[in-house]
Amino acid sequence: MINAEALIRRKRDGGKLSEAEIAALVAGYTAGATPDYQLSAWLMAVYFRGLDAEETRALTRAMLHSGRVLKLPPGLPVADKHSTGGVGDKTSLVIAPLAACCDVRVPMISGRGLGHTGGTLDKLESIPGMRVRLSLGEFEAVLERLGCAMIGQTEEIAPADRRLYALRDVTATVESLPLITASILSKKLAEGLDALMLDVKLGDGAFLQAPEQAQTLAATMIRIGEEMGVKVEALLTDMEQPLGRAVGNALEVEECLETLEGGGPAELRELSLELTARMVALARSANAGAAAGAEARTAARAECERALASGAARERFIAMVEAQGAQPGCLEKPRRLPPARLQAEIAAPRAGYVRAARARALGTAAMLLGAGRRQVDDAIDPAAGLRLRAQPGDWVEAGASLCTLYYNQADRLPPARALAASAFELGDEAPAPRPLVWKRMAAAEFAAGGNGVPL
Ligand code: URA
Repeated sequence: MINAEALIRRKRDGGKLSEAEIAALVAGYTAGATPDYQLSAWLMAVYFRGLDAEETRALTRAMLHSGRVLKLPPGLPVADKHSTGGVGDKTSLVIAPLAACCDVRVPMISGRGLGHTGGTLDKLESIPGMRVRLSLGEFEAVLERLGCAMIGQTEEIAPADRRLYALRDVTATVESLPLITASILSKKLAEGLDALMLDVKLGDGAFLQAPEQAQTLAATMIRIGEEMGVKVEALLTDMEQPLGRAVGNALEVEECLETLEGGGPAELRELSLELTARMVALARSANAGAAAGAEARTAARAECERALASGAARERFIAMVEAQGAQPGCLEKPRRLPPARLQAEIAAPRAGYVRAARARALGTAAMLLGAGRRQVDDAIDPAAGLRLRAQPGDWVEAGASLCTLYYNQADRLPPARALAASAFELGDEAPAPRPLVWKRMAAAEFAAGGNGVPL
């Protein structure tokens, strides 16, 4: 029997926990023996005091082994992508079927919305009938047949992360580098991967906003992931403004379908292609025991572009969601995604250039409209959210719409409207453009003494 109070106290006072103590804490919580209030206190102590590299590795391992680790039959490479979380960050829905079209298996285990950011599972569940809680057998069967499947943490796979993730969401303990590292790596390593592509967000809407923090997070995840036997690479990408135009679950699924149909916002298409091409090249190199070179990445990118243009990726996505219970034909046009009954516009108070559309305020506004949770057991409104009508760099006339809000409950509008309006900054000069991808980071560069390469 562990003494949770003593472990909380030691972390609170800046002390170090052993691997066995961390394992016992995680096991106790997962089994229901240690209550939420003690874990919440420990998480807050970690938030302030941090974990060192050994403790972070121990936490990752304990969370990984809280459930089973998938062991897929040998054959095609196995890979996944994971993002540290953002607003309108929906690339997973494009990447999984796209990589499967390139003969890379993608057993994607994702999370729910956290704070102001959306979650892949909540987006998928806005598709009528779609099930993200599959048994391991069902998951493996979809994967075997279609090369990709998308589920949440189960009682069998990474159950500790499922519970801790939900607890962090409502105890203001998300923005912690070691907790994010252990959360992401534990559920991703449980997939039995050859390669993991990380999308580490930086900027206003990212959990860790400063470039140095994002870089440290990427470096930590690469080091721990590679030590645990998986090839890991990261792109540091911009989250100052939402990715694409849609924020909110059904709205984002619609935007992903547009992207899979060859359209969609340019940034969403570009980031999805870049992450998939790198992930495919990394997975193939891991499988072949070689380094992923520029030529392999260029070839993978061309394959991805062909899979989008031919409609193969779109078909694969639809086959996957239907295999997971989605109503047949519900994603054909006219699509049967849930619509919102009510809409409101945020109008530009003056003419000018849009200088900012801050992701955090917009993500929080979408959450307040019903797209996310304020408390752990809040129900999501799949139709709620917003759509940007103007983005940084655009010129708008006074009174033009900056953004449309979608909602079903009238009392949710006032706070969301105020927050969404505060997200926009208008001025006389266009803002300097921000790169979509800031940097690429890989283990080989650390070995050579570098710290990632600017793109
Ligand atoms: N994504 C995760 O899976 N976990 C975190 O803690 C943050 C983002």
